[in-house]
Amino acid sequence: MTASTPIVVIGGTSGIGLATAELFSRSGTATIVVGRNREKLDQALRQLGPGARGDVADAADRASLDTLFAKLAPIGHLVIAASGGAGAGPFAAVAPEDLRRGFEAKFWVHFNSAQAALPHLAKDGSITFVSAASGRFANPGTAGLGAINAAIDRLVATLARELAPLRVNAVAPGVIDTPWWADKPAGLFDRESRKAPLARAGRADEVADAIAFLVRNRFVTGVVLDVDGGLHLT
Ligand SMILES: NC(=O)c1ccc[n+]([C@@H]2O[C@H](COP(=O)([O-])OP(=O)(O)OC[C@H]3O[C@@H](n4cnc5c(N)ncnc54)[C@H](OP(=O)(O)O)[C@@H]3O)[C@@H](O)[C@H]2O)c1
Repeated sequence: MTASTPIVVIGGTSGIGLATAELFSRSGTATIVVGRNREKLDQALRQLGPGARGDVADAADRASLDTLFAKLAPIGHLVIAASGGAGAGPFAAVAPEDLRRGFEAKFWVHFNSAQAALPHLAKDGSITFVSAASGRFANPGTAGLGAINAAIDRLVATLARELAPLRVNAVAPGVIDTPWWADKPAGLFDRESRKAPLARAGRADEVADAIAFLVRNRFVTGVVLDVDGGLHLT
């Protein structure tokens, strides 16, 4: 990667995306972070220092993504770490409308980000999605969330063939200690953290490490990498 072909992190102003941006920025890669909230973006840029730039955009809005990528082009690598969240709960009770919002906020945000960036990505670059362990193992209460994340994982293998030599991968995190959990019911984070064989939550920088491997290794494509303390084995 050169300074002229930056890495763009959609959802790079918090949690896993911010840790990923920090890792690349600290190693001298031109890094651009994107989020919807201006204050969060400014705070992230203060944390990242002078190697990073940023933009406000809502990745749920395709027109705003098209404008964004036309402005940022050319791009070396794309990481999509924007969060969703809606659609959780027992199958019998989950409201279809809630799950639809979940698909809009995560599946379509990831799909649109990848498709909008495509014309501007370096041919030997990469796309890395951030899905979730819920798409990989049978955890009661997460059928809806699992469906959203499995849909993202399903893109990976097909796109890795269809878009080659561009590489396409994903990480599937387990329970990771980020602001994503801030509005969830008390005790849920601790209970879910203990389900994995490693019996603890992961750190955002541990997921960032895995993303950096997928971005940098030029012979890895079509992979969904579990970064979950073994949660997928349960
Ligand atoms: N934390 C976990 O335990 C966990 C587990 C499995 C999977 N994941 C997945 O990991 C990814 C990152 O999650 P996280 O834990 O790092 O969450 P986070 O700390 O809440 O960060 C989410 C980031 O996405 C941005 N974002 C959300 N919607 C966006 C949109 N429509 N357009 C542009 N930016 C958007 C947020 O900024 P703004 O709000 O300013 O837009 C923020 O920068 C998500 O896909 C999440 O589903 C997380």
